[in-house]
Amino acid sequence: MSRGPQVSQELLLGVEPQQFLKLDLEAQKDLWRNRFGILGRYAPGPTAWIERIKQAQREGEVAVKRLSLEFEKEEQELSSSTMSVVEQIKPEGFEKVMIMACGTGRLIPECLALLATNGQLHGVDMLAEHVNFVNEGLENSGECNHWRPFGNPRYQIYQGLATDQTEEQDVETFDVEVWSRLGNHILNDAELNSAHEQTIRRLKVGGWLVLAESFTGKYGDRELNQGRLMSSGSKFRNINSVIKLLTPKMEVREQLVKKTRFAGDEYLVVPFQKVS
Ligand SMILES: C[S@@+](CC[C@H](N)C(=O)[O-])C[C@H]1O[C@@H](n2cnc3c(N)ncnc32)[C@H](O)[C@@H]1O
Repeated sequence: MSRGPQVSQELLLGVEPQQFLKLDLEAQKDLWRNRFGILGRYAPGPTAWIERIKQAQREGEVAVKRLSLEFEKEEQELSSSTMSVVEQIKPEGFEKVMIMACGTGRLIPECLALLATNGQLHGVDMLAEHVNFVNEGLENSGECNHWRPFGNPRYQIYQGLATDQTEEQDVETFDVEVWSRLGNHILNDAELNSAHEQTIRRLKVGGWLVLAESFTGKYGDRELNQGRLMSSGSKFRNINSVIKLLTPKMEVREQLVKKTRFAGDEYLVVPFQKVS
């Protein structure tokens, strides 16, 4: 039985701290499964989209089509901002790219296009439904799958957790890792720190982590997302705490930072470069 987003909060009440992580994870998976069942490729969008699509479904096919175009436009704005930063990093082509929490695969086609001739793209997501959706989409588009022994090895999309992705052979091998709207959904701070540490281990010295997230805190002359709250299953982090956490191994490349909006929230696309 699928459960709505509000259930995850109810489930967490009265839970012992040692049980929290596991229950939190299972509740999160339910939440994403539920969203995917209702919104399909737009599952990564805001919670308000769930009610809007249900209403459009009641109105009929034309209303659903019109709403999908609106969702598409909004998603495109965020992915274009993210990709404009990724493209500036290393225009001559990446050998190894990780899209952590790839969701329904929004950034994957464009990242594939940035690979060097023998480059490889890894896409990881904790939800099997998302992984299957992306793999099916890529197979239908004629992309060559899963490091084939012949042909052109290009991508591998698999189920996994951001906290559990560093095989020995992966250490210091990635040129770039993209986190788009992932940190907002890892609610437990220790878990977020652990996922960040693993990313840093995977990156080559000189490699990049690109965060495309909705933050709070003072950045430049602005207080980000002042007075805004996120819906259940999501959490704002202060951009300055995140920067502090990732240094001294990483440095923010301020000149590449991009500001954008998505679903009413202010987003920053922030590239960090591994310096040691
Ligand atoms: C808001 S969606 C973003 C998807 C995609 N990155 C994008 O921007 O379109 C968040 C995604 O994170 C995945 N996710 C959440 N927590 C995760 C974790 N700890 N490890 C891996 N994936 C996770 C969810 O399944 C979901 O697909």
